[in-house]
Amino acid sequence: MQVCIIYDKVRFEEKALYDKAQEKGLKALMVDAKTITLDTDSKKEDLALGDVILQRSVSHYRGLYLTACLEFLDYPVINRFSVAETCGNKLVTSLVLAKNNIPTPKTHFAFSAESAIEVIRKTGLPLVLKPIVGSWGRGVFPLRDEETANMIVEMREEDDSPLARIYYVQEMIDRPPRDIRCIVVGDRVVTAIYRYSAENEWRTNVARGGKAELAPVTKELEDLALRAAKAVGGGIVGVDLMEDKAKGLVVHEVNNTVEFRGAATVSVNDIPGAMIDYAVSIAKK
Ligand SMILES: Nc1ncnc2c1ncn2[C@@H]1O[C@H](COP(=O)(O)OP(=O)(O)O)[C@@H](O)[C@H]1O
Ligand SMILES: [Mg+2]
Repeated sequence: MQVCIIYDKVRFEEKALYDKAQEKGLKALMVDAKTITLDTDSKKEDLALGDVILQRSVSHYRGLYLTACLEFLDYPVINRFSVAETCGNKLVTSLVLAKNNIPTPKTHFAFSAESAIEVIRKTGLPLVLKPIVGSWGRGVFPLRDEETANMIVEMREEDDSPLARIYYVQEMIDRPPRDIRCIVVGDRVVTAIYRYSAENEWRTNVARGGKAELAPVTKELEDLALRAAKAVGGGIVGVDLMEDKAKGLVVHEVNNTVEFRGAATVSVNDIPGAMIDYAVSIAKK
């Protein structure tokens, strides 16, 4: 059994997965996404990428389109293209969560600066404006006064990316200074952590200095995390939830190439081990 880890940058996670696969007596392969090429006549054997692939590219689009190519060659890839496509886009994710009746923050969508400003004015502040593609809290803006909100929309209009002009405006959740990250592997919640925001930081991302603490996996949390993972198509995902003082738990995003550096420091379960076991189970299907 050969497990292939595709990366574009080797982080803690990729190293942990590689080491774990070897520890389990599997043949592990590390392949740099930036070196792979193929064409419409390519065959699976030409690439020799083993029995199952863990797509771990940091670049969302690189990982996404390479996965499409690898699925074309009939490689089982975790996560599947359709899952990566949904999770990589906050707008699509919100629609999928809402469609599946999974509690999620109320989110407004607008397709021009004028209508975004109109939505903000009508809904009332505070709100949160997010880029529909992105991670690590980048570009996630709490909007607390109308003047700043209008300025930020104006800035987005100047942005070169066409995606910057798709407006995703979310209610601001009244929550403690933390959120919850659940690492879901197949049909199991391997670990849940609280992520406490760093000083002078509203976002709780570990990439922004957020601190991890073990969270109890209550029945409610487990049920919601598994439903959210299933709604996007399953695989290995990070389901992020917030504790709304009024509504209770709400799922705000599902991460496709889940980082677990923070979670691994506090988890009692073996996170990379669960991921490798899952990859093997997919290869055997
Ligand atoms: N609607 C919201 N209300 C309150 N806090 C939020 C809201 N949306 C995001 N946050 C905070 O900002 C962080 C980053 O937002 P998120 O949607 O997860 O984007 P990213 O994909 O960049 O991590 C979240 O982890 C949370 O701490
Ligand atoms: Mg997040």
